[in-house]
Amino acid sequence: MYKIAVIPGDGTGPEVIREGLKVLEAASKKFGFKYESKAFDFSGERYLKTGKLVEDGDIEELRKYYAIYLGAVGHPDVKPGILETSVLLKLRFSLDQYINLRPVKLYDERFCPLKDKKPEDIDFVVVRENSEGLYKGMGEFQKKGTKEEVAIQISYNTRKGVERCIRYAFEYCRKRNKRKKLTLCGKTNVLTYAWDLWERTFHEVAKEYSDIATDYAHVDATTMWFVKNPEWFDVIVTDNMFGDIVTDLGAMVQGGMGIAAGGNINPKGVSMFEPIGGSAPKYTGKNVINPLAAICAGGMMLETLGEEKAAKAIEDAVIKVTREKLASLAAGKMGHSTSEVGDLVVKYLEENL
Ligand code: IPM
Ligand code: MN
Repeated sequence: MYKIAVIPGDGTGPEVIREGLKVLEAASKKFGFKYESKAFDFSGERYLKTGKLVEDGDIEELRKYYAIYLGAVGHPDVKPGILETSVLLKLRFSLDQYINLRPVKLYDERFCPLKDKKPEDIDFVVVRENSEGLYKGMGEFQKKGTKEEVAIQISYNTRKGVERCIRYAFEYCRKRNKRKKLTLCGKTNVLTYAWDLWERTFHEVAKEYSDIATDYAHVDATTMWFVKNPEWFDVIVTDNMFGDIVTDLGAMVQGGMGIAAGGNINPKGVSMFEPIGGSAPKYTGKNVINPLAAICAGGMMLETLGEEKAAKAIEDAVIKVTREKLASLAAGKMGHSTSEVGDLVVKYLEENL
């Protein structure tokens, strides 16, 4: 019995999670696994009413679950930064979800903004370090508010933190068993402390994985290759900040935020799965948001729980809906409502032999 903590969150989060749970339910019937879910309200709405965010006691409670399924974080009436830091980043950091896994896969070339790129050209995964770097929140102001003000933001990289991330990426690349190529994405030519550590660690760990080809690309060049030659990539490993940036570009080349899913992974603890598109408040309650990203995040969750067949079947159903039924992946333009898209995925999942 998988115990799943559900955090619907803000904006369109609850709507897309509803569809994700519909698909989860259908998958559990078809593949014979059992789960129970419990909803946790860590929304901006609740914060505005009660002042409460994610507290240490909540983290202890969440540790009892097999996984967390998150809708979206972000409320237009809450000052930017509060929910991001005290909900999303608090969960990632407290549960030591040190990997942010973001597959970039094109399901239908009609939705790719790149000319002449086909599904076989865009199929790679970004392994983003998710616990350190510039996200650590280290730094200070000096002479704040004066003309001499200095703001310092530190990129914090530990050998242990870097190594566990790189090791995860090699293991993932091996298990994925596609092109067996791991690209380190960094900035060794300028950020000579952090990326020296990353590069040394990468080469050392690589010695244990002679079956995996290695490659290096500067982050600026990486964004160029994503657009020009996405077919060069298989698995990419990078730090927290660069990973944040390149995965938004990745989401666009795979067809947009409507389809982009991610996992915040603690390989030995509680992982959390989310559509990466945010809460899209202007579409809230309109039944127009694309639920496929949330449904794909649910699939990633099942894969991590070991339900690989169910995960594959969900992905197959999503591909079929995308290719056969959708006019667009964008909110309001799909040609179907949010709940209809969820129903279609369920239908194709049930039909899949
Ligand atoms: C993401 C988001 C978050 C991040 C924000 C909301 C804190 O952009 O998941 O990529 O920067 O990691
Ligand atoms: Mn981001």
